[in-house]
Amino acid sequence: MQSPLYSKHAQQYDTAVTDNVYNAKFERPTLQSMIGELEGKDVLDLGCGSGVYVDFFIAKGANKITCVDYSSAMVDIVKQKYAQRVEAYVQDAAQGLPNVNSNSIDLIVSPLMLHYIEDLTPLFTDIARVLKPEGQFVFSTHHPFGDFECSQTGNYFERELLHDEWNTIGEPVKVSFYRRSLTELTQGLMEHGLVISQISEGQVGEDVKAIDPDAYAFLSTKPNFIFIKSQKL
Ligand SMILES: C[S@@+](CC[C@H](N)C(=O)[O-])C[C@H]1O[C@@H](n2cnc3c(N)ncnc32)[C@H](O)[C@@H]1O
Repeated sequence: MQSPLYSKHAQQYDTAVTDNVYNAKFERPTLQSMIGELEGKDVLDLGCGSGVYVDFFIAKGANKITCVDYSSAMVDIVKQKYAQRVEAYVQDAAQGLPNVNSNSIDLIVSPLMLHYIEDLTPLFTDIARVLKPEGQFVFSTHHPFGDFECSQTGNYFERELLHDEWNTIGEPVKVSFYRRSLTELTQGLMEHGLVISQISEGQVGEDVKAIDPDAYAFLSTKPNFIFIKSQKL
C-alpha cells in the first residue's frame, strides 16, 4: 500500500524530515543510539525513504550500504544523492528480500516501515535468512498502544488497517497503515529466531520544548513509536 506521501510528495518528504521533530529530533536519534559498531559492516536500509540514514552509516564506517524501498521516487532520490556509494533499488518488502544473498548482511535497519506491511511473515523469514549469524535487525515502528487510540474495532489483539491524514509536508496527505499488537510484533521476531536485546519508546530532545511545545508535550507523555533491536541466533 503506497501513500502519495512517499511517491508524489517524495521530494517534499525528504526536505521535511531533514530537521523536523518526529523524524530528526525523535526517531533518528533514538534508533541510531541503538546501533553499535559499523566499521566494515554490510548494512541494509529497509524502507530507506530518501536515504536520511545513509550519512550516519558512512560516518560510522559501514562497508557496503544497500537501500531498498517500495517507492521508485524515493529510490531515485537516494541514487541522486549517493550514486557511487550506495546500491539502491525498488523492492516491496512485503514480498521479502529475494535479491539479497543468504548470510550476507551484518545489520538491517528499518526506520518506520513495518506498519505498512500487513503480514510480516515473508519479510521476517527473509530477514532471518539474509542476516549473518549474530547479525542484527534494528527497527522503529508505530507504538501499538499509540495506534490503538485510533482503533475502530476496539479489539487490540486483532490486526487493523487504519487511515489517517498527516501534515508532515505542511499539507494534509492521506496515509494508511496497519496497527498490530505488541505480542504479534515481538512473537513474529522470536518465531524467526530473532532475539530481542533492547526495546525503547524513545526520548524527545529537550530542545524540542522551545521549537515545538505541543510536540514536546505529546512525545514526552504519550507512546508514539517503539524501537526494537534484535539479533539472529
Ligand atoms: C515513514 S517513511 C520512512 C523512510 C525512511 N526510513 C526515513 O526514516 O525517513 C516509510 C518508507 O517506507 C516505504 N515503504 C512503505 N511500504 C513499503 C514496502 N512494502 N516495502 C518497502 N518500502 C515500503 C515508503 O515508500 C517510505 O519511503
